Amino acid sequence: MASILIVEDEAKMRRLLELNLGEEGFTTHAAADAETGLKLLSQEKIDLVVTDFKLPGMNGLEFLQAIKRVDAALPVVIMTAYGSVESAVEAMKVGASDYVLKPFSLAEMVLVIRKELDACKLRDENRSLREALGQRYEYANVVAQGEKMQAVLALVERVAPTNSTVLLGGESGVGKDLIARAIHEHSHRASGPFIKINSTAIPENLLESELFGYEKGAFSGATTSKPGKFELADKGTLFLDEIGDVPPAIQVKLLRVLQERQFERLGGTKTLKVDVRLIAATNRDLRAALEEGTFREDLYYRLNVVAIDIPPLREHKEDIPALAGFFLERFARESGKPVRGITPAAMRLLMDFHWPGNVRELENILERGVTLSSGPMLEASDIHLDTRAANHQAGSAPVIPEGMTLDKWEQEIIREALRRANGNKSQAARALGLSRNALRYRLSQMGVDDAAEKEP
Ligand SMILES: Nc1ncnc2c1ncn2[C@@H]1O[C@H](COP(=O)(O)OP(=O)(O)OP(=O)(O)O)[C@@H](O)[C@H]1O
Ligand SMILES: [Mg+2]
Repeated sequence: MASILIVEDEAKMRRLLELNLGEEGFTTHAAADAETGLKLLSQEKIDLVVTDFKLPGMNGLEFLQAIKRVDAALPVVIMTAYGSVESAVEAMKVGASDYVLKPFSLAEMVLVIRKELDACKLRDENRSLREALGQRYEYANVVAQGEKMQAVLALVERVAPTNSTVLLGGESGVGKDLIARAIHEHSHRASGPFIKINSTAIPENLLESELFGYEKGAFSGATTSKPGKFELADKGTLFLDEIGDVPPAIQVKLLRVLQERQFERLGGTKTLKVDVRLIAATNRDLRAALEEGTFREDLYYRLNVVAIDIPPLREHKEDIPALAGFFLERFARESGKPVRGITPAAMRLLMDFHWPGNVRELENILERGVTLSSGPMLEASDIHLDTRAANHQAGSAPVIPEGMTLDKWEQEIIREALRRANGNKSQAARALGLSRNALRYRLSQMGVDDAAEKEP
């Protein structure tokens, strides 16, 4: 049984619709103004909205946009007076499903409602059908040929039209920025701003004012007032890059904005409300930061509503040919060089590499390759892989093996120490210069259990 939200300020009309739609077998909820309507929308399961176009407090278009921000797929039927067909057409452009002109017969209204609900059901069925048939997602500028990246895009597709906060995870250079933008561009906020802030790029004492803005005189040097990124991102998306590095004092403030959607500028007294969709990214394991106590658990759960993990390039090498082709085409166009393809030998080099710097590194290698190339094809000799990736000083040995992270490398060392000590933890701890407790903590994080322990 479908559930319908009726928003109409005229009491008689509202009651009439409630009664009649109830008799038709629909569940009804009613509101006299837009604000109450939006509240019901967030509390109840609603399948369709019928709303008057002229409401107290908010005009019809604003209300419609607000509904679409809550649920972009929700059908909305507009009621509008004769003589204001233009506004109904405007409403359709913003995403209204249909409209009826007042005065209308109830039969007419029921017909329109049934038609919209049927269309909705069809769309749902279509989607599950596409999924069952293995639908492929195509996004401009995102190469995703293989299963792993297709799964990422399937998630993006599902989450983009919602208002959910998204937490993007993945090593450096895997495409977190790219995916954050794709989510914004496929949301109903696409025409609004996309604002990015990188917490590691900004000193701690400036981060707060960057995020929340400040009033004139808030601190010495604040000669004017300035809006923060949250204000700039109103009606759009705010992308918080490197969220794992946000200092604790700012974590508290972020938590409040996430909970209440409101904040004050530094030195300001006015409470500001914003309508912002948050996307956060991290290339660190936030879960480990939680255990170490450097990242607030409550904030983590607020951010981690939908998690999208982007795999490192070495785990989706099947995308390398398409990615290489994509970058080759772009750099050939930009440089005006007539490079049209990649020789099999050059491609083999690309396929065999470990790509510690992920897609960004592949992009850089291709750019250099195109610059160096002299023929129509990119040759193996044009491909200059940095096989000492972790090393910035030419000539010396790498700091850690390519493809490794410091965490993984540390784990390797701990395992080796345990092997050499025949599993004796006290001995292994001594060899590593750690206390037994420190070693035990690291082992528990690695998922190595205590039972394997051999005491002397
Ligand atoms: N699937 C992809 N298709 C096409 N280009 C990609 C893809 N993934 C990444 N890129 C490109 O690789 C480069 C690096 O990606 P991006 O900046 O999004 O990585 P990141 O995960 O945000 O890295 P960091 O952690 O260093 O911020 C960009 O130029 C991006 O456009
Ligand atoms: Mg990035």
